[in-house]
Amino acid sequence: MRNMRKCYIRLSSLFLCAALLLTGCAAAEKKDEKNSIRIGVSLYRGDDTFINNIRGELEKCAKDYEQEMGVKVSMDIQDAKGSQNTQNNQVERFLSLGCDVLCINPVDRTAASVIIDKAMAAEIPVVFFNRQPVEEDMDRWDQLYYVEAAAKESAVLQGSIVVDRYRESPESLDQNGDGVVSYVLLEGESSHQDSLIRTEWSVQTLKDGGVPIEKITGGIANWERSQASALMEQWLEKYPGQIELIVCNNDDMALGAIDAMERAEISGISVVGIDGTTPGLEAVESGRLMGTVSCDKERYAGAIFHIAVSGALGREIPPEIELEEGKYYRCPQYIVIKNHQK
Ligand code: GAL
Repeated sequence: MRNMRKCYIRLSSLFLCAALLLTGCAAAEKKDEKNSIRIGVSLYRGDDTFINNIRGELEKCAKDYEQEMGVKVSMDIQDAKGSQNTQNNQVERFLSLGCDVLCINPVDRTAASVIIDKAMAAEIPVVFFNRQPVEEDMDRWDQLYYVEAAAKESAVLQGSIVVDRYRESPESLDQNGDGVVSYVLLEGESSHQDSLIRTEWSVQTLKDGGVPIEKITGGIANWERSQASALMEQWLEKYPGQIELIVCNNDDMALGAIDAMERAEISGISVVGIDGTTPGLEAVESGRLMGTVSCDKERYAGAIFHIAVSGALGREIPPEIELEEGKYYRCPQYIVIKNHQK
């Protein structure tokens, strides 16, 4: 896994360097006019593990850019703590402070129009990420962008981890040998586009791949480890010896399910997640998590950052950041299983 990881890091560094060069040239050309960039970032929740991983990478991007380009980058990162109101106020503050661009991880993806109104009035571009504003809102202005790891792709890759395992060794999943793999499902926030799509396509991929599945139960744990752990604790008591697979919309909930299994001293149930967060990848390494689907966080954050910088400098987005419809960037994803990444 380590060699492959290095390879991905190298790849994304290449991507980053190319992007740096391009935006860098742009920055150099405009250097006389602008030798500092102010970026306002608002996170839907600062305690979300995946979002925190992205935040760390964004901070690195800003540092690298400053060093390479000699352009000062002030990145003001705020936590909206799950409140759309708070986030709207943060946006107002960013604008009054003279931010050149906004990077917004919306609390309520259906309420992005308020932020868009303010940004359009101030003529400040917005890079949304991870929680997709509705299409109507995204179509309102050509200075709106969205960065994500596409939900259907994550789910199909997650499903294929299980399909591959079943083909290699059906008995490792169908442990009681009754000819079906009995599973439970842990879902993210019901209002998040990723939850529904991931659930639908993970299950569909299992079916298409010929895994004989039967759902025991499922529930919403809002991406959270503790909520998933509480649900799993109940299910382990209610369905003793029946659960063979736990399909989770993200790694944190997968880790919560594993916490509950460890408390109940139950082993052997296969768990799959999505995100490739730092603790998620560690759990794959230690064999507690069968597999996860990761996007390259460096590349994900690199796309947010370089789109933002281009927007702030009024320059074209570097062509290395391949945008769909001129505004959507979908970060490539890959499977992570023990000793292997593909
Ligand atoms: C999902 C991710 C979750 C959580 C959520 C927040 O894409 O898989 O772990 O971070 O976004 O919006």
